[in-house]
Amino acid sequence: MFDKSVEKLLNEQVVAEMYSANLYLSMSAWLDDHNYDGYSNWFYVQYKEEMDHALIFYNYIRNAGGTVKLGAVDAPPVDFAGIKEILEKSLEHEQLVTSLIYAINAAASKVNDYKTVQFLDWFIKEQVEEEDNASTNLGRFENFGGDAKGLLSLDQELAARVYTQTTQLALYEGGA
Ligand SMILES: [Fe+2]
Repeated sequence: MFDKSVEKLLNEQVVAEMYSANLYLSMSAWLDDHNYDGYSNWFYVQYKEEMDHALIFYNYIRNAGGTVKLGAVDAPPVDFAGIKEILEKSLEHEQLVTSLIYAINAAASKVNDYKTVQFLDWFIKEQVEEEDNASTNLGRFENFGGDAKGLLSLDQELAARVYTQTTQLALYEGGA
């Protein structure tokens, strides 16, 4: 059972994670169109991770006795000024997601919903990593992306990122 305020925020978070996925897929498409294959790959992997996040929230609501009620997912931007804008927007977006997760945590704490507080622990740690990755991508672009050779090397580096499904998803799909 859930307090209604917490249940509503958890449902909104499923949609917010789907929006994150859409945003990163849209960025991946723009990067692919502009022949930054490595950057495009990095954001494609990021898209898959965000879909996992959405499904973790979805399964948690079901497993913990809540009702899933999904809202509309907003359309992502489709045009970007360049790689720098994409990297800045992705960092801003992760900071926003962190604030959403903190807001759910605050609402859950307020009504003594300790199972949700505990559930969110993984996401709080995950957001530290997400913000760090986004900020590193931006910083490395600023440091080394200024000339064609440096940019090519960054692009090649990001081409190596491989998607692995988080064990957290299997845990909640299994009915934690
Ligand atoms: Fe996420």
